[in-house]
Amino acid sequence: MVVSADLIKQLYIDKHSDMASWIKLLLYKHPETYHHSVRVAMLAEKIAKPLELSNADKEQLVRGCFLHDIGKSMIPREVILQSESLSETQREIIKLYPIIGAEMIESNPGFGSEISKIVKYHQERWDGSGYPEPDSPLL
Ligand SMILES: [Fe+2]
Repeated sequence: MVVSADLIKQLYIDKHSDMASWIKLLLYKHPETYHHSVRVAMLAEKIAKPLELSNADKEQLVRGCFLHDIGKSMIPREVILQSESLSETQREIIKLYPIIGAEMIESNPGFGSEISKIVKYHQERWDGSGYPEPDSPLL
């Protein structure tokens, strides 16, 4: 599997009609985040091989990594792009994006719970100091 525009279209847009509008919104509001998501999906594909993941697990990992920041499509652009220090309220708003993204994924049962978990917990840390909440399934 090689991550490319065609693969992304095949994996996401063709299978999930919601996906096309989410990706368009992310690309419009946060083009850097969209390109970052593509790069993370490419890295996920590369690490899947040494991890000896099955094709099904690899596909889930790549999809989850591609979608990990999709919740940012619902965060105001001025908050994401702000170069000055964020206010406490803005920080709290940004910390919601993994939950928002997981809810977007969960709204379409075709994605599956593993992708939702990747999206929801990708900012969690091994010591529990990340976000959005301390109930990460990784701990
Ligand atoms: Fe990210």
